[in-house]
Amino acid sequence: MSTLITGISELLTNDPAIGEGVGRIKSAALLIENGVVAWTGPAATAPPADSVIDVGGRAVFPGFVDSHSHLVFGGDRVDEFVARMAGQTYAAGGIKSTVAATREASDDDLRVRTAKLVAEMLRQGTTTVEIKSGYGLTVQDEARSLRIAAEFTSETTYLGAHVVPAGLAADEYVGLVTGDMLKACAPHAKWIDVFCERGAFDADQARAVLTAGKAVGLGLRIHANQLGPGPGVRLGCELGAAAVDHVTYIDDEDISALAQTGTVATLLPGVEFSTKHPYPDARRLLDAGVVVALASDCNPGSCFTSSLAFCITLAVREMGLTPDQAIWAATAGGARALRRTDVGHLGVGAQANFVVLDAPAAAYLAYRPGVPLVRDVWSAGRQRIGPGSSLG
Ligand code: NIG
Ligand code: FE
Repeated sequence: MSTLITGISELLTNDPAIGEGVGRIKSAALLIENGVVAWTGPAATAPPADSVIDVGGRAVFPGFVDSHSHLVFGGDRVDEFVARMAGQTYAAGGIKSTVAATREASDDDLRVRTAKLVAEMLRQGTTTVEIKSGYGLTVQDEARSLRIAAEFTSETTYLGAHVVPAGLAADEYVGLVTGDMLKACAPHAKWIDVFCERGAFDADQARAVLTAGKAVGLGLRIHANQLGPGPGVRLGCELGAAAVDHVTYIDDEDISALAQTGTVATLLPGVEFSTKHPYPDARRLLDAGVVVALASDCNPGSCFTSSLAFCITLAVREMGLTPDQAIWAATAGGARALRRTDVGHLGVGAQANFVVLDAPAAAYLAYRPGVPLVRDVWSAGRQRIGPGSSLG
């Protein structure tokens, strides 16, 4: 069964075989066979197909790959946000109130809430999402968060080392995170992460956490240099992390470590937006040859957006990326951050995950900020969102 998507004003493939950067094809078509991309090219030269869908001169690009989110949690922190907008500063300590609400929530409650956020993401074009634990902070609550996350994605991340919970000494807690908690969580996780920051875990503790995770086969990621300069970026690069995330406060040494190791720098501009921290200069990273990803960091504390379109808008307006670079970072960049070769692009053989935008150019994502332009979303060759989709 093959389907030809035609009438595409511009198709961003992120396929190096087509062209640099976003691999743009004008007046394009895309052939899907068995859930994967079988062909892309000018519509005038498209092969025959079992069915044909004309998208009427709209732009098409790969589904967003959101490589950083914290979707399994109870409660909210709207009051904290309101206080912050009135001048209070963001601190890691706020995480503890979400931990209390998460522990109180039933499995079903957490499952329904996570499902709602994943659906919200899909509606906005996100077809691959990474989900972290980190609001349980007991063996049982972390394992439960990961079990629920795994119902929605294969990209699950164990973040027992989010903060030290009340009542435990830091070293005692690191022992638990690298011992019994790791044992209970590793079967449900692909990645391990640590919040390396003042008020959370220092470099030695972060090293202990990541090394223990690596020893049981988990891939490494790290929350680094979010609230101030620190050792996190260089530690992630040294240990072979797939990505270091936030990278808000970085210096030349951090940038050269990223460039040399190929570790992806995942920028989370929604966090700078909602915490009023300064935006990092993404252009500096690109100029140094660093691979940049954009992700939402959707969480109840530092940034409660699920919209990668919003993150793209911020990255273009505030971080110095062009629309093409920002869209690449939110698709191919996210895939690189998750070490996935089957998503984030529309080269032949890739999963047929794509967005039809109700606009003639993908740059409208930033050009029309805040406007819900995502019309159709396809995942693995099935239309999930939009007219004629199975979900409606
Ligand atoms: O990525 N930085 C640590 N963790 C989250 C925030 C979590 C929270 O405030 O609840 C982040 O920003
Ligand atoms: Fe985060």
